[in-house]
Amino acid sequence: RLLIIDFGSQVTQLIARRLRELNVYCEIHPYQKVTETFLTAFSPKAVIFSGGPDSVVRDGSPRPPKAVYDLGVPILGICYGQQVMMQDLGGTVEAGESHTAEFGRAYVTPTEQRIDLLNGWFLDGREQVWMSHGDHVSKLAPGFEVYGTSPGAPFAITADLDRRFFAVQFHPEVHHTPNGATLYENFVKLAGFSGDWTMGAYREEMIQKIRDQVGDKNVICALSGGVDSSVTGILLHEAIGEQLTCVFVDHGLLRLNEAEQVVKMFRENYNLKLIHADESELFLGELEGVSDPETKRKIIGKLFIDVFQKYANEIEGAEFLAQGTLYPDVIESVSFSGGPSVTIKSHHNVGGLPEKMGLKLVEPLRELFKDEVRALGHELGLPASFIGRHPFPGPGLAIRCPGEITREKLEILRKADAVYIDQIRKHGLYDEIWQAFAAILPMRTVGVMGDGRTYDYALALRAVNSVDGMTADYYPFTHEFLGETSTRIINEVKGVNRVFYDCTSKPPGTIELE
Ligand code: XMP
Repeated sequence: RLLIIDFGSQVTQLIARRLRELNVYCEIHPYQKVTETFLTAFSPKAVIFSGGPDSVVRDGSPRPPKAVYDLGVPILGICYGQQVMMQDLGGTVEAGESHTAEFGRAYVTPTEQRIDLLNGWFLDGREQVWMSHGDHVSKLAPGFEVYGTSPGAPFAITADLDRRFFAVQFHPEVHHTPNGATLYENFVKLAGFSGDWTMGAYREEMIQKIRDQVGDKNVICALSGGVDSSVTGILLHEAIGEQLTCVFVDHGLLRLNEAEQVVKMFRENYNLKLIHADESELFLGELEGVSDPETKRKIIGKLFIDVFQKYANEIEGAEFLAQGTLYPDVIESVSFSGGPSVTIKSHHNVGGLPEKMGLKLVEPLRELFKDEVRALGHELGLPASFIGRHPFPGPGLAIRCPGEITREKLEILRKADAVYIDQIRKHGLYDEIWQAFAAILPMRTVGVMGDGRTYDYALALRAVNSVDGMTADYYPFTHEFLGETSTRIINEVKGVNRVFYDCTSKPPGTIELE
């Protein structure tokens, strides 16, 4: 296995991700934890030093134990990691001045001699890389040579081939270094990794980690039926079985048959201990007469916590709360992954729960990106229809029903949404679209059906493509599709006589209507 020593870079997890893509198993450990004893016990086959925010010229700045250089295994130092290596081994690093600092895109060109680390590099004579450094190496450590230079970093790529120590000034793990993955591939190859690690192995490791963390204590998990919480629940169930209780809070704002489907899937396929908390009366009661979007959200958020707490209190000896937090949820606030200084940005849907209830967190997906969670879900046997589901917001249909929420409107909305999604599936578009749903508008309009006048609700259909939900483009359905869908909804759903298609992108619109 490969050890990543984390010096606090914001993109350390991306190194791990690049390695997982190469089917290489790695672990990230904060530098404070990596002592000589730790190194011996870990026995890495290769080591990577991450970047970091500190300056190596500062006294007391983060270092690895010197013993790391005597392990006889390949080491790759990145950015701060390069500077650490140079200074530790007898080179010189100079503190940043404005003319030597380099941030953003740069181009590295090769020196004369080619090395295995750079196989597949410089095919066009130069490589685009991402730089982000203030300090720079000014004198190489003995044994090192330069293999690539950039205008701001004469020592952009350096190596001591005898000891298999490599050190680069840029960040090969980020997308802005387009050929960066190749560099990691070459590194793990020369370190002797066969690349046969799989998501199946990750699953086993996660299970062991959960067992180590939880011991014989009980865990509760808020299951929403979304991919993240589902994968979290199943993983925990595999790890600790009966010690886990999942609570599925049904706030009465779910889609057609959704609650039944979710509960059935988990009970039948996984035999999970699952409490179906049907609290729709409570939620809908409190929401009666409320039409302000923020007030709605606040009511739902608060009730969710109250309800969850009520059920959790009935579970004896629960000391842990499991959450499906993903890496992008923590990326902004992590200073050292898994380290003592981590600030947790709680999942917005259960925000505030752990603090309020005095629970410790179990977050098995903290290191993963969405697509990796899907792969893990697949590995755990979650049906493909579950894994590929469009995102669904915590407040549910409440934010797709602008104005006052009534049971009548919710019923119309559920039926219309089901027809719309059925249409999308029938046309083979579901997986092409990031998120699609119907919303019911707070207005009635006049229509004519048969020989009679109608005065019914209007619907808005929404479909967007997006990468992360932060920005989005409306989906360009054909007119045929829209016409057919409108006809079907009006014919099949009583109470609707008009259908609009929302062709607003984000910005200026948001994806949800509220
Ligand atoms: P907006 O409407 O802000 O939505 O453009 C962006 C993405 O976030 C989802 N969304 C939520 N998800 N709790 C959630 O779990 C929420 O309160 C919430 N509000 C919006 C929305 O469905 C879209 O995918």
